[in-house]
Formats: sequence, structure tokens, C-alpha cells
Amino acid sequence: SKGNRRHFMEKEIHEQPEVISHTLANYLDFSKGTIRANVTPIDFAKVDRIAASACGTAYYAGLIGKYWFEQIARLPVDIDVASEFRYREMPLSKDSLALFVSQSGETADTLASLRYCKQQGLTISSVVNVRESTMARESDAIFPTLAGPEVGVASTKAFTCQLSVLASLAVVAGKMRGTISDEDERRLVHELSEIPRYATQALKLEQQMEAISRDLSQVKHALYLGRGTSFPLALEGALKLKEISYIHAEGYAAGELKHGPIALIDESMPVIVIAPYDRWFEKTVSNMQEVAARGGKIILITDERGAAASTLKTMHTVILPDMPEIITPIVYAVPIQMLAYYTAVFMGTDVDQPRNLAKSVTVE
Ligand code: F6R
Repeated sequence: SKGNRRHFMEKEIHEQPEVISHTLANYLDFSKGTIRANVTPIDFAKVDRIAASACGTAYYAGLIGKYWFEQIARLPVDIDVASEFRYREMPLSKDSLALFVSQSGETADTLASLRYCKQQGLTISSVVNVRESTMARESDAIFPTLAGPEVGVASTKAFTCQLSVLASLAVVAGKMRGTISDEDERRLVHELSEIPRYATQALKLEQQMEAISRDLSQVKHALYLGRGTSFPLALEGALKLKEISYIHAEGYAAGELKHGPIALIDESMPVIVIAPYDRWFEKTVSNMQEVAARGGKIILITDERGAAASTLKTMHTVILPDMPEIITPIVYAVPIQMLAYYTAVFMGTDVDQPRNLAKSVTVE
């Protein structure tokens, strides 16, 4: 049931602090500040690379996971959309770990990629939400997300739970590979344990996100920009906006702006910039300046430090609390989902059942 919410999507957005907390507890021991996940039969110390694939929102979760595995565990990750991966005939090593990300565990292209990797003799692991799914059954190791049933076609809580699992696994891998110390482990576990608290604070931005959505519902096109882990989140923000509000949106790595999309910027183009005050912030600000100089309307999603450091005029500035770098893509997903949600509500579209889309894509 939707409870007292208008749509399942709204309910599922609001469930995030709770289901993320539930999911994290499966992988981390908060009181000891250590990892508790058992990843048998995987020995991350012996894995030479991760070959990952997924579709849609789950693919964007995997893309963010790539940043974490590479940075924390120094483990290279190849990631592709499953519909390309399965036909690409890429050379695969038996020492690579195949990793799939899927809410339903039934997506046709992801499942075909899984079976392809199995044939090639790789160990198969899956981050899945449906425990009884085909992918879960056919995997050597299952990493469950405990998001509970997701009814809204647009994925929200499954996405942030997938990210929570991938971040936890990157810490597990880092520990097994000796790329992080016990002290790093304690710090990272503590930082991850704070996600539900920050997500709760992010949900308090609801009224502001609704007000921004009123403006956004007037436009035909929008751009999303981000750097680092905010880049895949920009892709996800654009996907969410187009699938439920039908507004044409594109996500770009902020650094790519000058390589083409800047030609689109004029007074009618809203540009949503995801920029926590992290090691990429100054670079993103210089991209924002390029947008501002061409009259583009900036909607900046940042934190206290970022808001203080940027003197640019924006149409809207959304301010989240300062938080550890590793958790920003998970927490910043919340205002981005609310933006898509309220824009769709203003447009009067069928939020939970957008046209042409199905919850589980079991055909190719
Ligand atoms: C977007 C969305 C889709 C799914 C994709 C994969 O909001 O829901 O892009 O993420 O179809 O589905 P699963 O995760 O079930 O494999």
C-alpha cells in the first residue's frame, strides 16, 4: 500500500533511510566499526579485475561502484550496459569476478551477460533485490539489497541500496587486498553508517525541491552535470527526469561540457549541477562559470562549504549538510529523485506507471 503517500515512488523515496540502514547492517558491524560481510567463495585478493554489467539505473549504480573499487581497493573495474557487454566478445580472464547489478534479478540482457560469463568460467556475483530471482539462483555469490518490494517503475530505493552494497563491498575488497588499514576500515564503516542520518536530512529539502520542480516543469530540455562519483549521478538524474516527466534531459561529465554540449546553453536551458565540496569542486565551478556566461540557468546542488565557496549567481541553490566524500552520491540521489518526482507531479504524468516502460524488462 501507498500508506498516506500519493504515489509509490514518493513512499519509496521516503523509505530510503530505513532500507539503507537495513541493507548496510547486513555488510557492516557499526558498533565494532568493521566489515561483517561473508563474500565466500570470492577472494578479492586474487581477483585481477571486475567485469560488471547492468541496465539503466542499476548500470549507473555500477558506474559509481567502479570509482569506489578502483580508489579504495585498487581493483580495476570494466563496466558496460548489459546489452553491449553480452555481444562484445571481450576477452575475459578466469581470475576476473563477474558482477551484475539488478533490482528484479530478471532483466533479460543482464541475465544473458551472466550466463555468458558463466560459460567463460568466471565466478558470478550479483547485487540483487529479489532474493528468489533467476540471477540470484544462478550466482555463486549473492549480495542482497534489502530495499523491500519496489513498486514504482522508476527505481529509487533500490538504487541507493545498490550503492550502499557496492560501497561496502569496495571496503571489503580493500581490506582483503590490503589497500586499506584497520583504521581506514573503521573510518569508512563509520562514514557509511551515517548515510541514513544524512538521507533523512536530505528528505527535509522536499519543499524546496517541489518549488524548483515548478520551474523545471516549464522547460523542454535540461542538462545535468557532475564530476567524479557525481558524474554517474548526473546520468541517473537525467534518466529519472526523462522517464517520469518526459522532459528531455542529458547527463554529462562536467569536463565534457566544452566538448560539445555547451553549444546548447542559452537562457532557456536549465543546468543542474551536482557539486559537493570535494576534490573536484573547483573544476566544476569553472564549468558552471561557462554556463553562467552564456545565460544558462543554474540549479546548484551542493553543501554548506560549496555554497560558501561559490559566488556565482544561480537560479536555485540546494544546500545539503557537509558529509564524507564516499557517501555523497547516495545522499545526493535523494534531492535528485525528488526533483524528478515533483516535476512529474506538476506535469500530471502517471508517476508510478510512466508510458512505454515496464518494471522488469524480460525481453531484449
Ligand atoms: C530506471 C529503471 C530502469 C532499471 C533497469 C534495470 O528508473 O528502473 O532503468 O534500472 O531496467 O532493471 P533491473 O535493476 O531490474 O535489472
